[in-house]
Amino acid sequence: MDTEIIRQLKQTVTDYASMLGCRPRACIVTFGCQMNARDSEKLRGVLSASGFELTDSEDCDFLIYNTCTVRENANTRVYGRLGKVKSYKKKNPLMMVALCGCMMQEKSVTDEIGSKYGFVDLVFGTFNLDRFPYLLEDLLRARLEEQPCFTRVEIIDSTENDADRLPSARNYPFKAGVNIMYGCNNFCSYCIVPYVRGRERSREPSEILEEIRYLREDGVREIMLLGQNVNSYGKTLNRPKSFAWLLDRIAGEFSSELLIRFMTSHPKDLSDDLIRVMADHNNICEHIHLPVQAGSDRILQAMNRHYTREDYLALIDKIRSAMPDIAITTDIMVGFPSETETDIDQTIDLIGRSGFDNAFTFLYSRRTGTPAAAMEDQVDGETASRWFDKVLEAVHCSARERNRRFAGRIMPVLVEQENRHNDGWISGRISHNLLVHFKGSPKLIGKIIPVKITESKGFYLMGETVSDED
Ligand code: SAH
Ligand code: SF4
Ligand code: F3S
Repeated sequence: MDTEIIRQLKQTVTDYASMLGCRPRACIVTFGCQMNARDSEKLRGVLSASGFELTDSEDCDFLIYNTCTVRENANTRVYGRLGKVKSYKKKNPLMMVALCGCMMQEKSVTDEIGSKYGFVDLVFGTFNLDRFPYLLEDLLRARLEEQPCFTRVEIIDSTENDADRLPSARNYPFKAGVNIMYGCNNFCSYCIVPYVRGRERSREPSEILEEIRYLREDGVREIMLLGQNVNSYGKTLNRPKSFAWLLDRIAGEFSSELLIRFMTSHPKDLSDDLIRVMADHNNICEHIHLPVQAGSDRILQAMNRHYTREDYLALIDKIRSAMPDIAITTDIMVGFPSETETDIDQTIDLIGRSGFDNAFTFLYSRRTGTPAAAMEDQVDGETASRWFDKVLEAVHCSARERNRRFAGRIMPVLVEQENRHNDGWISGRISHNLLVHFKGSPKLIGKIIPVKITESKGFYLMGETVSDED
């Protein structure tokens, strides 16, 4: 990162602070997936390096919404919240408002912002995150020069983004996301992600390893390797590599020092090598998120997923024979165009056979520009909701059944936070990615401690500490 711009920003933020009469407070609200969460850490890194105080309150001096557009309701939530932002800005005319992220890569959105939300100062997209320090500098200068209305919309399509070099402020000091690749080439027929995040590109292994070494030195205990489809990692490198190779390399170098997770795996690209590497290293968490989307071959084909239900079930068998205790979670979509009750029953049957530890269930959302949006036989909302409830019940049933196995075990838990609902309680995660709540001191946050699991509540666990030692 060009440190000159950060130095300059520090000065401009100091001037802005004098104008406000206090240190400026910035808030970033993140919608969507781990990719956006990671991007927000970079935005936060720039803000804190340049002198902003970070706050959770949207009633602040600089508000950023990092948006998602994967489903219609993600967009609706942003528009809904913008109404409130207008009132904050009325109270504090020096306030700055920025919108970024996936939603901004859609022309219809930026048009709507331009016509209805004139109080938004800055709009940028996913491909120019690295421009954020420069855009912020211009915005602050406009404030200092008392330009009443600064509106800058900078959206580009090129993927020559160098955001990896931005400073970063992590959400948790002890765990971190590491991008191993960007974009997606799969074009599942319902999905907007390839359009708003561009083609697949993998980062060089040396760059990834360097980042992880830095994180380890900085006190991180757990990393999550991030990509829309990590299983196709390395195909675009000058010297192609596989994800299994990368994972083996990382798990080997950081054995005993770092726990490793990854997300997301596309079933069509999951290799035997990957299963072997996962089984070989005990610092790779016993969890795999393997979105299936549907249990009917006809629907899977229309979704352009490139596997059948039998392929998927065979894959689950293979994974479970290598790692019998592994947690398998999934994503399921309900109400895809032309789906029928028979297709839904097949999805429910597949849930029963797979024995998922958990699943995210989504109502299909029609995204303009995707092939599925133009398909005939869109399912009506009421029918889809009814099916959704049936599917959800099957997921609950599977999770309750599966997660019972932990009761009575003593398991290592990475303590994440104080429990929001119960004073004196803390929460952490087992290797299988399930949350455990137990009584304990906040001093344990960031440590890995043994916890006895006393009860399974379906989607989470209750426990008690065995010893405070790391
Ligand atoms: N790359 C990941 C998924 C990213 S999006 C993968 O392929 O597994 C996360 C989830 O959102 C998807 O798995 C899918 O279940 C859901 N999703 C994507 N597009 C959607 C749409 N148009 N309507 C409803 N859910 C959608
Ligand atoms: Fe979307 Fe499919 Fe790519 Fe996942 S793999 S991001 S669902 S297009
Ligand atoms: Fe949403 Fe963008 Fe992620 S559309 S799901 S935030 S890649």
